[in-house]
Amino acid sequence: MANKDQTDTARMEKIVSLCKRKGFIFQSAELYGGLNGCWDYGPLGADLKKNIKDYWWRKNVQERDDILGLDGSILTHQAVLTASGHIGGFSDPMCDCLLTKARLRADQIEPQSGTAYHFTGASHEESGWSIARVYSVLLNQPNQDENKARKTAKEFYAQFLNDQQISPKKLTLAGETTSEEIDVTNFNPDNGSLLTEPRDFELMFKTQMGASADENDPNATAYLRPETAQSIFVQYKNVVDSSRVKLPFGIAQIGKSFRNEINPRNFTFRSREFEQMEIEYFCRPEDGLRLTNEWLANRLAFYETIGLDKEKLHVLDIPDGERAHYSKKTYDIEYDFPFGQQELEGVAYRGDYDLGKHQEASGKPLEYFDEATKERFIPHVVEPSAGCDRTILAVLCEAYAEEDLTKEGGKQDIRTVMRFKPCIAPIKAAILPLLKNKPELVEKAKEVKNLLQPFMNVFYDETAAIGRRYRRQDEIGTPYCIAIDFETLGEEDASLKDTVTIRHRDSMEQERIAISDLLPWLLERIR
Ligand code: GAP
Repeated sequence: MANKDQTDTARMEKIVSLCKRKGFIFQSAELYGGLNGCWDYGPLGADLKKNIKDYWWRKNVQERDDILGLDGSILTHQAVLTASGHIGGFSDPMCDCLLTKARLRADQIEPQSGTAYHFTGASHEESGWSIARVYSVLLNQPNQDENKARKTAKEFYAQFLNDQQISPKKLTLAGETTSEEIDVTNFNPDNGSLLTEPRDFELMFKTQMGASADENDPNATAYLRPETAQSIFVQYKNVVDSSRVKLPFGIAQIGKSFRNEINPRNFTFRSREFEQMEIEYFCRPEDGLRLTNEWLANRLAFYETIGLDKEKLHVLDIPDGERAHYSKKTYDIEYDFPFGQQELEGVAYRGDYDLGKHQEASGKPLEYFDEATKERFIPHVVEPSAGCDRTILAVLCEAYAEEDLTKEGGKQDIRTVMRFKPCIAPIKAAILPLLKNKPELVEKAKEVKNLLQPFMNVFYDETAAIGRRYRRQDEIGTPYCIAIDFETLGEEDASLKDTVTIRHRDSMEQERIAISDLLPWLLERIR
């Protein structure tokens, strides 16, 4: 089992920097200082994202007879989210640091022990200023200098000074007492400052609909969906009636979800606007647990096919008491990101909870009628719920590699290469005429480009030396470079006419292939 705390900050910084430099991912509204928790995918990122979504759809919808697609609306009726339990229930307990105002998830604060220093207020003799307010600081290390607690307390009280020019050091603290604390969670682990009491923080984005939207009109209120799952449950009956599917079957959806996360962090990992790739797989109750295990195996295999290292994937079997009350089984699939082992996807057996809740709230029957057994019942559901942006982030982290190609006695030569699987690489092939000032080479190269372009994303590049062009493609993960050289023209050896050199990104090996074989050769490898 990988260590959850094992991190590689330098590697992560290089990946984030490459993403911006090469046009994979940009901070949203960067021009205006950035919109926290929101990201824009640049030209290469947009293609990478599209390829991952297309591949997921192909494997889960196109190549299966038992799963159908759905594309539900993002704006969601409040009745849907009331029935699902999101309204009134989808919140995190938060507390604020009284010193820095940093907001922390109360349930994620590790218990700490140590000596707490309590104060009743502070004063500034020269100006006559004083304040009466209780405040505490925890020193959680053995033999810590107690003056550290006093310094923190003075900084806290100094926030209330009318004259901000007065140094906190000039304050006199009042009413100091101490107490020994064991496993407490009401102090900021970063600076020891007392925290506020936890308060619930609403995670959903609410909006008003219609031209005459009135803030007080409950019918004008809608929400940006916090998960794609709910429109699947709400349209379940329409899908059954219109498609005449039989259990077991699934409904799949890819789309945006929105959560007002308190602490968006780790690049795109925890965002406020993100995309999910979810399947609700409906089944008979007796098949639920078996199918949950089958889906877990299926999803792990999926991640391997898009290039994630098996050793970096971990399964957490969520124990009783930590799962949602309606779930009989939940697995988290986690990945070793450079910032630690973190969740990629959840595979949950949700029983008949969701359809049951919507049936109850809407008053409309959502039961399934089994023609064979003449039974009527609410199907159970298994939910593999993946994050698209997290999958992209894992793929970027996995693909990033640096190779030292320095020759003995030579200048340092580090090759940066993104080892994307060809099926998800943003650009499948680069077409490179050896020289740009040789019209026959350029013309042939453009012919090759025109041949391939209707079938795949290719990139034509005629600037700089061929070696540099190869390296540029390595850095963006193009699996194949196709060089059009003098042999292609058949000038020296007629048998090589209309052949090209293919250079493989990972091995850097080269081979010659006839232009007439190029398209099937590539199509076979980029699927
Ligand atoms: N329908 C179930 C559901 O939404 P979830 O565990 O809250 O379950 C499923 O979310 C997946 O969606 C997560 O495993 C993660 O990959 C992705 N996800 C959730 N919140 C996210 C966020 N704030 N930013 C990026 N991805 C997120």
